[in-house]
Amino acid sequence: MALVNENYLKLPGSYLFSEIARRVNEFKANNPEADIIRLGIGDVTRPLPTAVVKGMQEGVEEMGRSETFRGYGPEQGYQFLIEKIIENDFTPRGVELSADEVFVSDGAKNDTANFQELFGIENIMAVTDPVYPVYVDSNVMAGRTGKFNIEKGQYETIVYLPCTEENGMKPSLPETHVDMIYLCFPNNPTGMTLSKEELKQWVDYARENRSILLFDAAYEAFIREEGVPHSIFEVEGAREVAVEFRSFSKTAGFTGTRCAYTIVPKEVKVYDSKGEAHSLNQLWLRRQTTKFNGVSYPVQAGAVAVFSDEGKKQIKETIDYYMENARIIREGLQDAGYTVFGGVNAPYIWMKTPNNMDSWQFFDKLMGDAHVVGTPGAGFGANGEGYFRLTAFGTRENTLQAIERIKTRM
Ligand code: MLT
Repeated sequence: MALVNENYLKLPGSYLFSEIARRVNEFKANNPEADIIRLGIGDVTRPLPTAVVKGMQEGVEEMGRSETFRGYGPEQGYQFLIEKIIENDFTPRGVELSADEVFVSDGAKNDTANFQELFGIENIMAVTDPVYPVYVDSNVMAGRTGKFNIEKGQYETIVYLPCTEENGMKPSLPETHVDMIYLCFPNNPTGMTLSKEELKQWVDYARENRSILLFDAAYEAFIREEGVPHSIFEVEGAREVAVEFRSFSKTAGFTGTRCAYTIVPKEVKVYDSKGEAHSLNQLWLRRQTTKFNGVSYPVQAGAVAVFSDEGKKQIKETIDYYMENARIIREGLQDAGYTVFGGVNAPYIWMKTPNNMDSWQFFDKLMGDAHVVGTPGAGFGANGEGYFRLTAFGTRENTLQAIERIKTRM
């Protein structure tokens, strides 16, 4: 008899975005004439930049010629891409990295979900609340959490760090010891950021407690304001305690193409039961070389074009486009009397539901009355209840139309 991994049975029936897709499909089946605008899952709508397409085409051509054909590539990514990542995303910010600290992958979702494998099952983890559900669900699957407490809407043994209106959506340091801390800034879902001084407190906590910061910077390219750190490694001491996840998905339209990377500095250490230190970089290399065969050559050839002059210009245009959508949503909702957060340095707008409406009720009402789909805050955790997330990744036309409908139909 094959036994199930019972940790999976602790999870809610479906992943948040699958549940939303299910509800939307059901609504569409019952209302075939409804013109639905999707501002739910953070999926991009702008096409790949032409520089990227050209890079991919050249990569495909090379794969079709015997002189330039390539078989398995290095699991951690081609040097040509890694060098450009360091040169463009880190060196200008005063962050020094060596090539073997960068691991190219097929997505930050996978990396953030897989990285927990390197940690002992007895580690105590902390997440902000609300939080991107992948951090929690992947740890539940691994057995690092207790049961789901339905009343609290939280798993036992996870330390939740509330991000509320009262604390300006900024998590406080944990009151009890934690070993693994997931932070995402600019934040998904609240769209808020932390200053360098605020991030420094987390680095100091991690150094004092020998904890690890799992820092998701997937949205760093959307930072508009000066002085907001783009990388945790801009903070002194972070190389000892932090790992950073980055993605081409939202920055360069790679949600369907898949390319990302993770930075694991050589100084970051985890400990065995005898107190001996082990390099997280070496462990991640071991994991990736065993379980992953690298991102396809044409995709990496496309990703490197993001750093060409043409690529940079085109990506800037795309990001400007989405951030104008963010402004339209943020200001439109404010005009309509809603309380909103985010949308200044991030492509997400986090709004309070009106009249303390439950967030799934608001989801149903918005879909039913305005034919607009967003993401209910409760899907991101107990402290997301009473909130709702809209993304700026729609088309301009749909974004304008969605705000118009919210103003007139809600
Ligand atoms: C989101 O909507 O939160 C993101 O699209 C999820 C993801 O990037 O996996």
